[in-house]
Amino acid sequence: MPELVPVLRKSEIEARVAALASAISADYAGRNLVLIGVLKGAFVFLADLVRRLTVPVAIDFVRLCSYGSGTCSSGHVQMTKSTDMDLAGKDVLVVEDIVDTGLTLDCLVAHCLSQNCRSVKVCALIDKQERRSTAVKVDYIGCTVTQGFLVGYGLDYNEHYRELPEIYHLKP
Ligand code: IMP
Ligand code: MG
Repeated sequence: MPELVPVLRKSEIEARVAALASAISADYAGRNLVLIGVLKGAFVFLADLVRRLTVPVAIDFVRLCSYGSGTCSSGHVQMTKSTDMDLAGKDVLVVEDIVDTGLTLDCLVAHCLSQNCRSVKVCALIDKQERRSTAVKVDYIGCTVTQGFLVGYGLDYNEHYRELPEIYHLKP
């Protein structure tokens, strides 16, 4: 049986999400903000984040796949669900659960820019820097983790553990 080692407790997640929401609310006051959540992993984080924002937002979702059923990016990112909204002239903030190689975000930022949005920034709950292979800029970071495969709070391993309210390191 794999072991689940706690990495981020409920109170810590709440504090990080609150800090992100307050920074985003200050930066986007008076703007035309569209949040784009990356399915499936970011759905819990996005849901908590929007309820702490003090600025109005529109919300859209995309689905990108790079993993299959393993714990390593295949290196090939595919957008299996694109944006539904018209992003032209909008201030887009991509909301991602975790950034690893950065390939997923690279692909998504390029997609947003191709839609002629006014600006694109990236918010990630977790920045995992050990395998970064792109220069993608993460503008808002909840916390940085150096290594390990994480599950819970939306993050999965093979579609398991998304429902856990806290974040764990999955040890094989
Ligand atoms: P990247 O394209 O390598 O940056 O990978 C980003 C995507 O891989 C994220 O959207 C996550 O869904 C997934 N991912 C990366 N690291 C982990 C992890 O530790 N646990 C669960 N999913 C992860
Ligand atoms: Mg994801």
